[in-house]
Amino acid sequence: MEPQQLAAPTANDLEWFRAEATRIHSINRQVGFAAWAKADFDFTCPSSATYPFQWFWDSCFHAIVLSHIDIAKAEAELLSLVQNQHPDGFISHVTFWQRDHYEHMVQTYDIAFRSKYLSDEMQPPLLAEAVAAVALRGRGQDFLREILPSVERFYEWLNNARNPFGDGLIRVVQPDETGLDHSPIWDEVMKIQDEEKESWIRGWHSICDPYDEFQRDTTKMIELDHFVVADVMLNTIYIENLEVLSKLFSQVGDSEKAQRYESRRDHARASLDDLCWDQEDGLYYDVNGRANHKMRTNTVSSLMPLLLQDLDIAKYQALMNHLLNPDEYWATFPVPSVAMNHPSYRPDVVGTNLVWRGPTWINSNWYIGRGLIRHGRLDLARHIAAQSVALMRQSGVREYYNPSTGVGRGAPDFSWSTILFDLLNEVL
Ligand code: GLC
Repeated sequence: MEPQQLAAPTANDLEWFRAEATRIHSINRQVGFAAWAKADFDFTCPSSATYPFQWFWDSCFHAIVLSHIDIAKAEAELLSLVQNQHPDGFISHVTFWQRDHYEHMVQTYDIAFRSKYLSDEMQPPLLAEAVAAVALRGRGQDFLREILPSVERFYEWLNNARNPFGDGLIRVVQPDETGLDHSPIWDEVMKIQDEEKESWIRGWHSICDPYDEFQRDTTKMIELDHFVVADVMLNTIYIENLEVLSKLFSQVGDSEKAQRYESRRDHARASLDDLCWDQEDGLYYDVNGRANHKMRTNTVSSLMPLLLQDLDIAKYQALMNHLLNPDEYWATFPVPSVAMNHPSYRPDVVGTNLVWRGPTWINSNWYIGRGLIRHGRLDLARHIAAQSVALMRQSGVREYYNPSTGVGRGAPDFSWSTILFDLLNEVL
């Protein structure tokens, strides 16, 4: 189903949005010294109103945007992100740099901790992509030489700790590790009864409380085999990042490591097709546990492999049929986080409702838009970029938007939504 009318962004949109992005990174910048870490910090938080700390995948998006507008801040963002890397290579999904000032906020989060200031959860691993963007527009190899050892240790941790079944795919042990916190993909496992936060919190505790008995020892948590999910979006990002990492090692002349990450990429890529592709529905689905139980919920995660250049033509066509279907994903303001004809679809998040169950988010638009460009559909990528600009002009730079009305909700002046600036640069 080809869309009839397509919008395109203008040079004026780009300039307007550059100013918006600059403003948001300036108001959300957190700079200081943390006595607990004996280190300075300098990063953009997701939103000073609701999330004043440093989040892993948010920071990667921020660094990519900052690589266009302030390279020194872009470098500082990533150096702050890796500053408290754990000895095993793991990087916490939240660094609570200034926790002592915001204790009241910490009490409202459901997060697992490794220590008082560092969480014990991962998030989608787009660190290599962020490093590549910052090196490209900044100091190139000098920056790479500085940061690559930490980046390498992080991807080694992923492979050692989160590839328990040897299929090369990364497993998360609780839903929020995917970054798609309340997605309906896991409703069955979490026994979610309604779309209220209370129900989700009960589900989260049913998954995470048993881990406490093992002091959150990853091997034992995985052995429990109750939430060991290979998420499609997270693994698509992983596959993309292994490819980027391989290229970064080539750039610094380390062909052995370049080869190592290329092979790891190929292995994960093959497993994504073997385990997650569903021929009947023409979608990729998350799988859970040693038995690789397929979780057949039609969400934006299922479409993410559009990012992969080597997607075969039949699968590409099947995914495009879903993306361009006005009953599923081709909304006025694409791309909704859940198919609009799925029973769990909720376009508005009000009060204590759950997120990632319908609204359009800009970071997933960035990935899908770039995928479309790779498959020769610049026209569709332009449309997604133009409608994302329209959202911002109508409702401000928010955390997420109603895909039909464009009403913006969630955190105001939300930093990762500025990743649209990178997409605008790609399509203009
Ligand atoms: C929400 C999102 C998560 C993000 C965090 C900070 O929890 O679901 O992906 O990292 O907010 O913006």
